[in-house]
Amino acid sequence: MTGRLHDKVVCITGAAQGIGAGIAETMAKEGARIIIGDVNDDGAKSLAAQIGTTALHLDVSSQEDWQALAAHISERFGKLDILVNNAGLELVKPMRDHSLEDWRGVMAVNVDGIFLGCKTLEALLSKSGKSGSSASVINISSIAGIVGYPDQLAYNTSKGAVRHMSKSLAIEWAAHGDAIRCNSIHPGCIRTPMLEMAVEGWVENGSVPADDPWGAIASLCPLNRVGTPEDIALGAVYLGSDESRFVTGIELVIDGGWVAR
Ligand SMILES: NC(=O)c1ccc[n+]([C@@H]2O[C@H](COP(=O)([O-])OP(=O)(O)OC[C@H]3O[C@@H](n4cnc5c(N)ncnc54)[C@H](O)[C@@H]3O)[C@@H](O)[C@H]2O)c1
Repeated sequence: MTGRLHDKVVCITGAAQGIGAGIAETMAKEGARIIIGDVNDDGAKSLAAQIGTTALHLDVSSQEDWQALAAHISERFGKLDILVNNAGLELVKPMRDHSLEDWRGVMAVNVDGIFLGCKTLEALLSKSGKSGSSASVINISSIAGIVGYPDQLAYNTSKGAVRHMSKSLAIEWAAHGDAIRCNSIHPGCIRTPMLEMAVEGWVENGSVPADDPWGAIASLCPLNRVGTPEDIALGAVYLGSDESRFVTGIELVIDGGWVAR
């Protein structure tokens, strides 16, 4: 690794495990100074100790938690260069079994969480962007934000909203000269605790065979494997670094070719 994020201050949500943890580890190797925000305090602290960084309690659906995080970043670092909105919840069941509470619970984390993060940290990001190279917001959507999948209506809809929110903010920040770029990443099947839980359900309902569920998922992917958090992290490093200085409003699909078929 070559210090592609040297001295950049980065906030990553939902980084106690899975894709967020992979992004934190990879960005730390590239020289970033990282703040992890997660509801899983023990997991976040343990990763922070491992990579030498800070963990703060953050429920992304809480405006008060975001305000406390912004105050901490302002006091400790005085700037924010990159915000990775990664925290997310999945809900797998047919629409007929979605309660309004289920629907709102998914939207609160996957959509409100990103709105609140962008809104609360906008001033810190803009200050940093205007004083050097542009700041970067990276929103983790999904291939489910581009194409439909059965039995996850709230999740798919929330990820479609993340895709559009990212483009709208990219244009709004450009129009106002805020010096903040904004892009979305759309992971395919990435082996994390979230996907492991989903796969248990697929085994139970017979959509993948119990003897080799991961092999079956890999065989559906043109590149014939399940992705890793590092696959996503490498895209996030590009979008966070100055290498992507002319890139805003894009949707970066990292899925081994899944939605290209
Ligand atoms: N794993 C995949 O195959 C896949 C595919 C497409 C998109 N994604 C997206 O990538 C992101 C990360 O997914 P993952 O697979 O690593 O999930 P994961 O469940 O393994 O990890 C999610 C993390 O978010 C945290 N979190 C949950 N609710 C939170 C809240 N309210 N506030 C703060 N933190 C919260 C959890 O504690 C956890 O650390 C999600 O947005 C997910 O939708 C994942």
